[in-house]
Amino acid sequence: MKRIAILGSTGSIGQSALSVIDAHPDRLMVTGLAAGENADRLAEQIARYKPRNVAMATDAAADRLRASAGLSGVRLAGTGRDGLVAVASDESVDLVLCASSGTDGLEAVLAAIEAGKTIALANKEVLVMAGGLVTEAARRKGVLILPVDSEHNAIHQCLHGRATSEIRRIVLTASGGPFRGRSASQLEDVTAADALRHPTWQMGRKITVDSATLMNKGLEVIEAHWLFGLSAEQIDVVIHPQSVVHSMAELVDGSVIAQLGVTDMRLPIQYAFSYPDRWIAPVPSLDLARAGRLEFERPDLRAFPCLGLAYRALRAGPSLAVVLNAANEVAVTLFLAGRLSFPSIAHVIEETMNSHEPANVASVDAIRDVDRAARDRAQAVAHRVQLKV
Ligand SMILES: NC(=O)c1ccc[n+]([C@@H]2O[C@H](COP(=O)([O-])OP(=O)(O)OC[C@H]3O[C@@H](n4cnc5c(N)ncnc54)[C@H](OP(=O)(O)O)[C@@H]3O)[C@@H](O)[C@H]2O)c1
Repeated sequence: MKRIAILGSTGSIGQSALSVIDAHPDRLMVTGLAAGENADRLAEQIARYKPRNVAMATDAAADRLRASAGLSGVRLAGTGRDGLVAVASDESVDLVLCASSGTDGLEAVLAAIEAGKTIALANKEVLVMAGGLVTEAARRKGVLILPVDSEHNAIHQCLHGRATSEIRRIVLTASGGPFRGRSASQLEDVTAADALRHPTWQMGRKITVDSATLMNKGLEVIEAHWLFGLSAEQIDVVIHPQSVVHSMAELVDGSVIAQLGVTDMRLPIQYAFSYPDRWIAPVPSLDLARAGRLEFERPDLRAFPCLGLAYRALRAGPSLAVVLNAANEVAVTLFLAGRLSFPSIAHVIEETMNSHEPANVASVDAIRDVDRAARDRAQAVAHRVQLKV
């Protein structure tokens, strides 16, 4: 039995993970669940999976859980970041799936690594913010980080432990999102509702907007740098609207190895849960004849500048990636609230990055300081930009 803690169990990835666990009751069990604000859904999950520990993002959410009798028979390990740390590092856990949105999972991932847990990582923001700290801690403790993001999961499968010296480059595929093919001027008036209509993947709201701006792919470029030890020059992005090829690795001899599959996150989640074994999965087979054409095109960096900003952050060094991520979270939240235009997301991030002086990010505290300052700056920039649009 592999004993699993899920951070973000009420979200899109969290629920897919529970359905993978449902499909393998003799191999997988839930011992920890953590959620943000959705006390009703967490109460249902507690009743069904009877975990040992649970946590919620705020005291108010925990009170709602208590009031609905959702806590009967389980321990509330805590709230906020402390709650996530307690759930992730408990002795009852073998593997932690980090699928909470935002960056609150950082301390929990580090605590789980210190406690020797295997990490299944969906939350790319944690690596963008603190890739050096996380990968160094994992190396020191001999802990595996298994990527759940479908592109990195694909690369993990393609490389299968191959030495970095054998890799020429990797190619991350991107669906292109709902606005693929539009020019910059055609993006001026798009709304949050338009951005949330993703053509191929069902995901949480923040990552869906990130897919529409191509920032999702930018964050993935930085994530790939930390996971596979590759430079910015070795990480390419290609638009592939059908999302059938989940990514590719080109080896030094010119061979290109790709991983293909249906667009169902249960596949990469199960890969991480079963690794290094393979189990029958509750997903349909890929029907290539039905998929028909597979198309590939270059990303349009003029219409979607966020991808270029992410490459800039990766080349500049780790503190600018913290700023990129923080400013993006601020801008996307404002866009989802209808308070910022779609093109202004990139403006806010770029201006926030322009005013950043490289800083020390060698500890969690230092990272949190840079993150906090960048969020304040991004709010101020957004306020100015909004007045202009
Ligand atoms: N969805 C995908 O297909 C996909 C693919 C690749 C990578 N990812 C990554 O996986 C992560 C989750 O994505 P998602 O699509 O599943 O997002 P989502 O549907 O919005 O779910 C986010 C989850 O995180 C929880 N959460 C938020 N803040 C929290 C906090 N402070 N403490 C504890 N839990 C918190 C939410 O709880 P409440 O709902 O209870 O508030 C929810 O369970 C993101 O980093 C995303 O980039 C997602």
